[in-house]
Order: sequence, then structure tokens, then C-alpha cells
Amino acid sequence: MAKRNIVFQGDPILSKKSRKVENFDERLYQLLDDMKETLIDQNGVGLAAPQVGVLRRVVIIMEHEDGDVIELINPEIIETSGRQENVEGCLSCPGEYGITLRPMKVKVKAYDRYGKEHIYTGEELLARAFCHEIDHLDGILFKEHVIRMLDDSELEN
Ligand code: NI
Repeated sequence: MAKRNIVFQGDPILSKKSRKVENFDERLYQLLDDMKETLIDQNGVGLAAPQVGVLRRVVIIMEHEDGDVIELINPEIIETSGRQENVEGCLSCPGEYGITLRPMKVKVKAYDRYGKEHIYTGEELLARAFCHEIDHLDGILFKEHVIRMLDDSELEN
């Protein structure tokens, strides 16, 4: 495995639409393993492939603090319910946090690295992470969902 460099806001790659994964092969495994190492190194909640410069529909999300990740290939949100307002940030926008409006519960269909289909249901933080990371695959940053950005005094807490 190898850490990859994070792409920061301002880079046009972050506003592009990613292509579907067609081949569930060694190259995909390498990308997923590298993304996991990068996410752990950055102490983040989730990471989408465009954030490491790869325009493919690949997302990983930290499932447990022990370092287990959910791997989502070609993910699609198939159901949402409720709403939540909570603080969000992004590894591509260091130091910036805002309150977003998101669904409370999200159901996602995705494939694993071997091409097997799974359905995941996430609530609260996991629902936010599903929405945030899948948005990256369509070139959307969390700021588009922000009700208001946190200011410096709030960031100190
Ligand atoms: Ni992000």
C-alpha cells in the first residue's frame, strides 16, 4: 500500500463527474488499499477517489475506530428519510467546517471490490458520510449543502 496525495479545493478535478468502475481487478484493489492508508493517515471519516486524483466511482468510509472501512464501488443512494443538521468538513477543504442539511437515514446500493452487490443503511454520521462522499463522485463539495459556515470562534471549540 502507499499513501496518495489529497487533491484540494480549487483543483478542477474536484468538480468533475467520475466514471463508473467497469473492471473489478488488481488496479481497483490497489486504489482501495491506497485510499484506506491515506484515510487512516489523515484521520478522516471518508474518502472519494477524485480526492486522490482518480475520476472513478469509488468511495471508502471508516466504519469503526479500529480501522475497518466500508468500500463502495459505483454507489447509488436509493432511499432517504428524515433530516439532520450537523457539522461537516472535508479533507479537501482543510480548516473549514459548516452546518449542512442532510437526510437522517440513507440507503445505498453499491458493489464491493469483488463486484458483489450490497445494500447499506446509514443513520446520523454514516448517513452524512454516504451523502458527502457520493457527492464527490458528481463533483459536488459539502459547501453546496451548507446552511452556514462555522466562524473562527466556533472552530476553537
Ligand atoms: Ni469530502
